[in-house]
Amino acid sequence: MADQAFVTLATNDSYGRGAMVLGKSLRHHNTTKKLVALIGPQMSEPCRSVLKEIFDEVRLVDVLDSGDAAHLAMIKRPDLGVTFTKLHCWTLTHYSKCVFMDADTLVLANIDDLFDREEFSAAPDPGWPDCFNSGVFVFRPSEETHGKLLQYCTEHGSFDGGDQGVLNGFFSDWATADISKHLPFIYNLSSIAIYTYLPAFKQFGGNAKVVHFLGKTKPWSYSYDSKSKQITGNVHEATTHPTFLLDWWSLYSSAVVPMLQEQYGDEPIRSGSVEDESCTSLEQAEAQLSSEERKKNWEQGQADYMGMDSFDNIKKKLDSFLK
Ligand code: UDP
Ligand code: GLC
Ligand code: MN
Repeated sequence: MADQAFVTLATNDSYGRGAMVLGKSLRHHNTTKKLVALIGPQMSEPCRSVLKEIFDEVRLVDVLDSGDAAHLAMIKRPDLGVTFTKLHCWTLTHYSKCVFMDADTLVLANIDDLFDREEFSAAPDPGWPDCFNSGVFVFRPSEETHGKLLQYCTEHGSFDGGDQGVLNGFFSDWATADISKHLPFIYNLSSIAIYTYLPAFKQFGGNAKVVHFLGKTKPWSYSYDSKSKQITGNVHEATTHPTFLLDWWSLYSSAVVPMLQEQYGDEPIRSGSVEDESCTSLEQAEAQLSSEERKKNWEQGQADYMGMDSFDNIKKKLDSFLK
């Protein structure tokens, strides 16, 4: 249906990779809906081009930041103030109904039936099930709702510093008002739940339709050996199931990497594997952001924690000084 869309958000190249895999996973499961990506000005040109090939619409939006360091510290995610940017999705009024999905989600089956649901439908958050998780939700674009949400932010802020706190505050009767607005957990299987309730995962995990790589470490924080088809990096510390991580990586390497390679094209091949080459190219492009721009971004609280300003990269830099 032309007036219904899946919507995601990526403010930088790291989340951009997540959005590319999400878009591909929706296409692979033959969605009949439109695909929309909201992007931030930090995103590089090659990544924008790839997103434009996968998505029907790529829309540049202003990055909104809660600036709420105190609440974000409580969820140990200083980087999530920018998730306020998600609220722009209500301005997509050329669609009558949409499903928002975080860029760190992966679709495992056709989920077009979500459009039978009404605003505001979402699945419980595994940490506090009377709250919904805002990684997957059904909504109706409306300037009026958008305005009210922004007003809510100004008046009440967010109890977690991110969009999930605002949305739970705004749609505050979700837990009790209408059970049809509770999406089954298999539409937003937060990967940490596998460890908090393993028997349930063993019983029901096979029915999962959407996996959500919630938490600080994302699939793109690991590396992948394309020859042995294995994830490398701190896999035992992973907060997700290795099978899902492999699903993400195999889609990334087979469907997304060739597109990135096309964009980053004529750079010298450094190593044997296709994946390594693309990651290298992407990192090179990220590094091209001038140090002046990076400094400005840092000062505006927009460090690319998942990408070039990731802890690993900062540590590497420090190590190189120490050597
Ligand atoms: N996001 C983004 N840039 C950021 C941080 C977040 O575009 O720097 C978007 C992205 O769509 C992401 C969502 O906001 O999936 C929520 O953040 P995240 O998934 O990291 O939160 P979690 O689900 O781990 O709590
Ligand atoms: C959550 C959600 C995510 C949201 C974040 C900040 O854990 O998974 O979608 O952006 O909290 O509120
Ligand atoms: Mn997420």
